[in-house]
Amino acid sequence: MAEKARVGVLISGRGSNMTALLYASRQPDCPYEIVLVAANDPDALGLKVAAAEGIATFGLGHKGMKRADYDRILDEQLRGAGVQYIALAGHMRLLSAEFVGKWEGRMVNIHPSLLPLYKGLDTHARALEAGDTVGGCSVHLVTVELDSGPVLGQMEVAVLVDDTAETLAARVLIAEHQLYPRVLAELVTRDATPEALLGKLREIALALPAAEEKLSHGTPAFAVAGGKMFGYFSDDHHGNGITALLVKTSGPEEQAMLIEAEPDFYFRPAYLGPSGWIGLRLDQGGVDWDHVGEWLLKSWRMAAPRKLADVI
Ligand code: GAR
Repeated sequence: MAEKARVGVLISGRGSNMTALLYASRQPDCPYEIVLVAANDPDALGLKVAAAEGIATFGLGHKGMKRADYDRILDEQLRGAGVQYIALAGHMRLLSAEFVGKWEGRMVNIHPSLLPLYKGLDTHARALEAGDTVGGCSVHLVTVELDSGPVLGQMEVAVLVDDTAETLAARVLIAEHQLYPRVLAELVTRDATPEALLGKLREIALALPAAEEKLSHGTPAFAVAGGKMFGYFSDDHHGNGITALLVKTSGPEEQAMLIEAEPDFYFRPAYLGPSGWIGLRLDQGGVDWDHVGEWLLKSWRMAAPRKLADVI
């Protein structure tokens, strides 16, 4: 099995969804692991649970801090722990647009309603007030607008005639604990298929000026129109079990330095390695696509004719 995706969970209190994600991660074949639990309240009960379970924790109160400053510190903590995906689990503090942008596509939230119904707070009371016969919960990708990102999964919960907001919330919570681990597992698995990885690479590479896709020895590759190659997609090349992007470095020195610094991410590819190309592993769970994009641009610059390269 491929490396497990590294998940950071953000909580504000009890953390029962975090706990459900954690115990699910310990089931055989779960494709993710929890590597950090962070809370905007250092006394959050969930932090104690995580610490007792041997998970790294980070608690920092947000009162009196500027949102941007808080989010920068949080981002550093998450990256420092090698987090690839963020799961918001009862996290009641708004995140800045900048933070959300950095983690777009890799940050999910659980919300106690059948979205798009009842965004925000008091979801169960509002469902009862409206006379709904079913409530439920949703897991969605986080975008800048609150509770409005693409829904990845939902679970319905029947409403009982004598339900109160509290009794309904308690049953929805049980549903949340079933739904969240499954949807998170699906997301990290879906993102890691070679088809999904190639799709994402295409999107970035073909957005570069005069970029075109070619087939090179049967594998998809990217070239500057009429010119040189700047990227190769490599999937299980000669049965090496690796899915990667090959890009150009400035030469053997840079290549060796990078591999030494991050041997889990960079490798020296067969055939193209001696000419200074380097492999970036895409099969290690949650890929940092901004970073991959920077590499594609750098490689494109080396492949593009001067006149074109000077444009961007
Ligand atoms: C959960 O019901 C979650 O869906 C909800 O807070 C509760 C947290 O419980 N989240 C929201 O309302 C987000 N807008 P937990 O701390 O025990 O997981």
